[in-house]
Amino acid sequence: MKKTVLVTGAASGIGLTCTKLLLERGAKVTAFDPQLEKMVDALGSSDSLLTIGGDVSQKKDCFNAVAATIECFGCLDGLIHCGAAHSSARWNELEPDEMNKILAINVTGSLLIAQAAANHMTKQAKGSIVLTTSASVLFGVTGGNGQGGPAYVSSKGAVLALMRSLARALGPMGVRVNAVSPGITNTPMVAGYTEEQQAAMKQRFPLGRFAEPEEIAEGALYLLSDKASFMTGENMHINGGSNFGG
Ligand SMILES: NC(=O)c1ccc[n+]([C@@H]2O[C@H](COP(=O)([O-])OP(=O)(O)OC[C@H]3O[C@@H](n4cnc5c(N)ncnc54)[C@H](O)[C@@H]3O)[C@@H](O)[C@H]2O)c1
Repeated sequence: MKKTVLVTGAASGIGLTCTKLLLERGAKVTAFDPQLEKMVDALGSSDSLLTIGGDVSQKKDCFNAVAATIECFGCLDGLIHCGAAHSSARWNELEPDEMNKILAINVTGSLLIAQAAANHMTKQAKGSIVLTTSASVLFGVTGGNGQGGPAYVSSKGAVLALMRSLARALGPMGVRVNAVSPGITNTPMVAGYTEEQQAAMKQRFPLGRFAEPEEIAEGALYLLSDKASFMTGENMHINGGSNFGG
C-alpha cells in the first residue's frame, strides 16, 4: 500500500498490528501512542517509520503528529485511530472523574485526531479516516472483571455517531470516514477477564473464540484503502457473529 498513514494506539494490540502490516505492505507510517518507549521497542526503526509520543485528548499532540508526518513524509493519506482507554467500572461504581476521562480520551480524542488529519486531507481533497468503535455498543456490556462498563460502552457509541457526522461533513471534500467495530480481541485491553468470564463470552460467539488483532487490522486496512473508495459512514463489524439475531 503506497500510502502515508498515521496510526494511533500503535504501541499495543490492534494499532501495533495495523502499523506492522502497513509497513510490510510498503506504506510510510507515523506511529503515535503515549507509551513511546514500548512502541519503539515493538516497532524498531526504519526510514518508513516515524514514532511520536502523545495523547489524543490533547489538541496540540494531535496537530503536532500530523505536522510532523507532513514534515517527514510530505503528505498524509490515511488515519487509523485505535488509541483508546478502557474502563470496567460498573454503573454504581462509576465516578464522574473516570467517566469524563474516558470520554475525553475516547470521544474528544477521536474528534481531535480526525480534525487534525482532515485539516490536511481536505486541502488535498483526498483522504481516508478509520475510527474504532466496539461490538459492546450493540451488546451493552455492564463492566466488572475487566469487561467494558458504561463509561467505555457509551464512549464507543459516541465514536460511532461522530464517525457518521464526520463522514457526512467531509465526504463532499473528498475524505472518507468509516469505523471498524471489533468484538473481543486478544490484546492487553481484555487481559483482565477471568477464565470463567472468557468461557462464558466465547459461548456468545458462533465461531467459538475471540479475534486475533490481525483479523481486526485487515478490516481497518481495507476501509483505509482505495478498494473501499465508495464506502463512507460505514461501521464494519468484525465480531465472530457475536451480535447478530434477536
Ligand atoms: N481488544 C478488544 O477486545 C476490543 C474490542 C472492541 C474494541 N476495541 C478497540 O480497539 C482499539 C484498540 O484496542 P486494543 O485492544 O488494541 O487495546 P490495547 O490496550 O492493546 O491498545 C490500546 C492503545 O491505546 C493507547 N492509548 C491509551 N490512551 C491513549 C491516548 N490518550 N492517546 C493515544 N493512545 C492512547 C495505549 O497506550 C495502547 O497502546 C481501541 O479503540 C479499543 O477500544 C478493542
